[in-house]
Amino acid sequence: MGKKDKFKDELMDKLVSLCKRRGFVFPSSEIYGGINACWDYGPLGAEMKRNVKDFWWKEMVHKRDDIEGLDAAILMHPQVWITSGHVAEFSDPLVDCKKCKSRFRADEIEVTVCPNCGGELTDPRKFNLMFKTFMGPVEDEASIVYLRPETAQGIYVNFLNVQGPSRQKVPFGIAQIGKAFRNEITPGNFIFRTREFEQMEMQFFVHPSEDEKWFEYWREKRWQYYLDLGIRKEKLQWHEHGPDELAHYAKKAYDVQYEFSFGWKELEGVHNRTDFDLSRHSEASGKDLRYWDEVKKEKYIPYIIETSAGCDRTILTCLVDAYHEEEVKGETRVVLRLSPKIAPYKAAIFPLVNRDGMPEMAHKLCDDLQRRFKVFYDDSGAVGRRYRRMDEAGTPYCITIDGQTLQDETVTVRDRDTMEQTRHKMAEIQDLLEKKING
Ligand code: GAP
Repeated sequence: MGKKDKFKDELMDKLVSLCKRRGFVFPSSEIYGGINACWDYGPLGAEMKRNVKDFWWKEMVHKRDDIEGLDAAILMHPQVWITSGHVAEFSDPLVDCKKCKSRFRADEIEVTVCPNCGGELTDPRKFNLMFKTFMGPVEDEASIVYLRPETAQGIYVNFLNVQGPSRQKVPFGIAQIGKAFRNEITPGNFIFRTREFEQMEMQFFVHPSEDEKWFEYWREKRWQYYLDLGIRKEKLQWHEHGPDELAHYAKKAYDVQYEFSFGWKELEGVHNRTDFDLSRHSEASGKDLRYWDEVKKEKYIPYIIETSAGCDRTILTCLVDAYHEEEVKGETRVVLRLSPKIAPYKAAIFPLVNRDGMPEMAHKLCDDLQRRFKVFYDDSGAVGRRYRRMDEAGTPYCITIDGQTLQDETVTVRDRDTMEQTRHKMAEIQDLLEKKING
């Protein structure tokens, strides 16, 4: 590992520790020693997660006339997963070390012996990644159901249920955000690969002759989305799936990748799933899922262009990309330069001292702003310390009520990134924040 890599790995460790310290993310069931690769989002993490999901929903659903939202059940008819190919195909090749019993994904190790102890490895065998459970009181084959490994299937089986009432015409899309579960062989890298995670998926239904045009359209849109989230362009790249990487349903696939300390890794997949899913569900269910084009007087199964992003992975990316350390007056300042759109708190409100009417004015401003934004009131410790705490939380603006406020009702607004302070009328703060956060 080179010096630069070591530094980057140290950064990841520091980020994990910051997340615990500030209440973004911590190990699940920690008092019992945690459970492998399951994480809980604390107060700041829960806010940030909501903001990430809201931003995606706004871009993909609210700002468009041609995309509808959906919230399908996690548990689905087990036939869905047989038809979709997941029961037969959704597996990774697994090898065990005969000596130390470690497990590896065969496609992730480059050696033929155990990377831990050099022991002999078993032949690879297929390991299905779906979690199974039982529905109802009897635990037999007939009552097996699966925790969905992707949210997409809930969209396919509801294609006509959504299209009918919404009176959408092809091309149009259906979007949903929800939990997915995969019994990953090698989870890890904090919240990068977990066994329970959230997906933000959109399936766009198009005429088969227009699949390539729409594929390129969505690639462009989804690239811009990450730039709009404030992620540095030079840390992003496209990766096209080769024939050996393509999922069983895909004709063409590109991943948006981010350069983490552990390599370039997938954030989101854009897939051309053709008519694979709708044709298979149509055949297996006996329901005609063809779309009737009234203008062209044509009935056909649409092709699907899918954009599939991980919410937890987006959060990790935003945190990694935002983490900065810098020297300020001989001290190290840790700052999360998160986009104000997704920062947990939009502003912090400080009375300079806890007397002379300053707390009362600060509380009043806080109450006013709370109707519109998530803000944080802090009156403990020196103001410099309060700034530092908010820098670590990624809070873009700190508003201080001081002696001058009592005379002319102006406050200081301190910018997290430049640390510059400007004075503004208290009555104008709400509009100012609105402009800075939502443009
Ligand atoms: N419906 C298509 C689909 O699920 P995928 O490439 O397997 O495609 C899409 O997953 C996205 O879901 C990934 O790009 C990633 O962001 C997220 N994802 C997948 N597995 C994950 C895991 N084990 N932990 C966290 N996020 C995961």
